[in-house]
Amino acid sequence: MKKVETKSITGIKNLTRSNIEYILELAEKLEPIVKGESQLQPLKGKKLCTFFYEPSTRTRLSFESAMLSLGGTVISMADAQKTSSVWKGETLKDTIKTIENFADVIALRHFQAGAAEEADSHSRVPIINAGDGPNEHPTQTLLDMLTIKKEKGRLDNLKVAIVGDLKHTRSAHSLTLGLSNFDNIEFVFISPESFKTNQWIKDIVLEKGNTFVESEDLENSIIDVDVIYMCRIQAERIEDPAEFAKIDGLYDLTRKLVDNCTKKPIVLHHLPRVKELSEDVDDYEGAAYFKQTYNGVLVRGALLTMVLDKVPAEYNL
Ligand code: NCD
Repeated sequence: MKKVETKSITGIKNLTRSNIEYILELAEKLEPIVKGESQLQPLKGKKLCTFFYEPSTRTRLSFESAMLSLGGTVISMADAQKTSSVWKGETLKDTIKTIENFADVIALRHFQAGAAEEADSHSRVPIINAGDGPNEHPTQTLLDMLTIKKEKGRLDNLKVAIVGDLKHTRSAHSLTLGLSNFDNIEFVFISPESFKTNQWIKDIVLEKGNTFVESEDLENSIIDVDVIYMCRIQAERIEDPAEFAKIDGLYDLTRKLVDNCTKKPIVLHHLPRVKELSEDVDDYEGAAYFKQTYNGVLVRGALLTMVLDKVPAEYNL
């Protein structure tokens, strides 16, 4: 296991298997602090700024919850497009050159692909990508992977269905890239034709020695999978109403469909859900989407601790 040596976390595509294993191990070691069972405060004296240009519930609040649990403090801009100087036309560069004077680390959510990398190039302090447009969502993927590891006991040898708007969903992109670092992963990408996974992501799956199939049919394609990952339609990224109509309401994972599967798959969703995941799945024992939310606190705490170089020596990592 090896910690990430770069200053910032801009995408899963920059992380190795060893980096991912390090972060997940650290996340699990931090759990006693998050639960209040350990008095360690590794981030005492450190400040996080959460700066979000797009809406968020889980990502922003779990970053903040993690920082506070680990002894740090938080300043926050939840609605940068409307209430910061961005509204007056300030550039991302000037915004970052400002915030770096106020905080030791910045969690940035932005509507443009590549924004985290651009911010990193201007920043003295670490940037953690909390979602950059339709591109990547690395912290979501790390919490997804921690959940798979805890619930299935492994990250190798998995058949994983990813379902929905695979073209625009950054969580699906990052999860595919992240899991591609592991061995014997069979992806089943389920989407309508015009919402398929981007070719460059599929190329990486194959380059890393893993496999995928593509299907439009939810019911029959999930029968023998280990993991079902449901995605919300990214309506705000689809301009053409005719395009939207091709996917709106198309998939709905119900308890009946899950009970029909042969390997008791776990069910994940990055949330928020809209129409694609029925509430009757909630009491299925493999429903793990609210566990993902909890694991988000651990993983984001691990990332903050790692980029601030404050990993407690007694963890022996
Ligand atoms: C996702 C996001 O913002 O990319 N939400 C999240 O962070 N859990 C997914 C979504 O908005 O559909």
